[in-house]
Amino acid sequence: MCMKAKLEAIQAAALEALQDVKTADVLESLRIEYFGRRGKLTEVMKGMGQVSKEERPIIGKLANEVRATLTEAFEETKNALESLQQEQQLNAEAVDITLPGRKPAYGKAHPVMQTLERIDTIFTQMGYQVVTGPEVETEHYNFDALNTPSNHPARDLHDTFYLTDGHLLRTHTSPVQIRAMENQKPPLRIIVPGKAYRVDYDVSHTPMFHQVEGLLVDRHVTFSELKGVLVSFARQMFGDQTQMRFRPHFFPFTEPSAEVDISCTVCRGKGCRTCGHTGWIEILGAGAVDPEVFRAVNYDPEEVTGFAFGMGVERIANLQFRIPDIRTFYENDLRFLHQF
Ligand code: DAH
Repeated sequence: MCMKAKLEAIQAAALEALQDVKTADVLESLRIEYFGRRGKLTEVMKGMGQVSKEERPIIGKLANEVRATLTEAFEETKNALESLQQEQQLNAEAVDITLPGRKPAYGKAHPVMQTLERIDTIFTQMGYQVVTGPEVETEHYNFDALNTPSNHPARDLHDTFYLTDGHLLRTHTSPVQIRAMENQKPPLRIIVPGKAYRVDYDVSHTPMFHQVEGLLVDRHVTFSELKGVLVSFARQMFGDQTQMRFRPHFFPFTEPSAEVDISCTVCRGKGCRTCGHTGWIEILGAGAVDPEVFRAVNYDPEEVTGFAFGMGVERIANLQFRIPDIRTFYENDLRFLHQF
């Protein structure tokens, strides 16, 4: 075959082969096949020496043209492959903005915490200061300083979780009364929200529960002031129509003491299942601070008087939300919790 025909054949074959190239690897081996050291075009160029003097300018020119054409064709194929690959990558990474988004599950306060916060707000608006204390307590703070020594029968009313090192889980928030009075001189006006623990488990008791304790100490504090504060609290919490009644009771740390009932929030006092057909629901314990408690913290009971109260938060949440079994508060079932 003459030189001219060879060159034309090479060009035609290369151009045709380029049509089928789908990947950069194939393109590279094709480039080597034509332009490599042993490549077809390279071989022909090497054979230029054998071409006669007369033909050489013509064949040389043709060879250069073929090389230029093929170089350009390879370049074009390379560019086409690159933009194809880029397009594929973009398609693979594309975000489908027509898909509905995933809603983040946003949290909110647990119903017991909602109730606790409301109680706190009502008392802080009456000028009470929020104070907290440890849940792991000593017998001294939980019982002795609250006028409940170990031989005191009231001690048996609390089914206490004892720790192995002589500490215990506080059975009420009342020990913080003692801690607060040790830290501050009278007058004092505090509430203590927090957890308490007792060995107890049924529809109205969980081993961990919440209380809000209240304590006011000043000169000449009277029982009627206690009533005023509690009535005001109950009306804000349960509505203006709420009635309140005090029943004589016993607590070691107050004298006199009372259990405090409100008119039933369901039947408004007529009598129904919620209030056991009495028309009344007990919500808290309260009383005038016992002089023994003042002595335990070096307050002079001749100088100061005070009142204290303590309420169960789950119980109050229950009146707000009407939960048949308060244990459901702590089962972490989102279907339950989402309702609040
Ligand atoms: N600590 C009592 C209890 O857990 C509640 C209580 C009653 C607290 C009377 C008081 C109080 O501060 O004066 O049952």
